[in-house]
Amino acid sequence: MKTTLQGGHDEAPFALTPEREKEAHAILSRYPNKQAACIPLLHLCQEQNGWVSGAVIKYVADRLELTTAHVQGVVTFYTLFNQHPVGKHQVWVCRTLSCALRGSDAVLHHCEKRLGVHVGETTKDGKVTLRTAECLASCGTAPMMQVDKDFHENLTIEKVDEILDRLTR
Ligand code: FES
Repeated sequence: MKTTLQGGHDEAPFALTPEREKEAHAILSRYPNKQAACIPLLHLCQEQNGWVSGAVIKYVADRLELTTAHVQGVVTFYTLFNQHPVGKHQVWVCRTLSCALRGSDAVLHHCEKRLGVHVGETTKDGKVTLRTAECLASCGTAPMMQVDKDFHENLTIEKVDEILDRLTR
């Protein structure tokens, strides 16, 4: 099915699973007004959908009584929101100063070579999307990368190989 950020006519409406619906209720109860829950609700939807499609934007806008333009603005501002379909796993290589001084370029090039993709691309089997990140606040253990929600620190090429082996197995 074709999906677009703007929401194509052929995109099915988005709905949370019953379990995530409970989480959404808990999130909304933590904020004085529901509009303030835009970012956490988008995260919850992305967790389920893999990316923020047009249908997700419409769902969040309707649920929080915001305009779709407002929600889309939030999505395009924060780089952690995926604006296109992505792989099952997300690999973020930090390229900011501490990591750069300790070899992040070599880590990144090795990832590109091993995965057969450039930054921003997803492997053909849909398993891994490779990205770069600005400082992830783990400078003391540079070079580092984030894989999904986990940090991998003091990277060496051997460690990177082990991590990528696990992801692409
Ligand atoms: S520079 Fe990479 S974590 Fe801070």
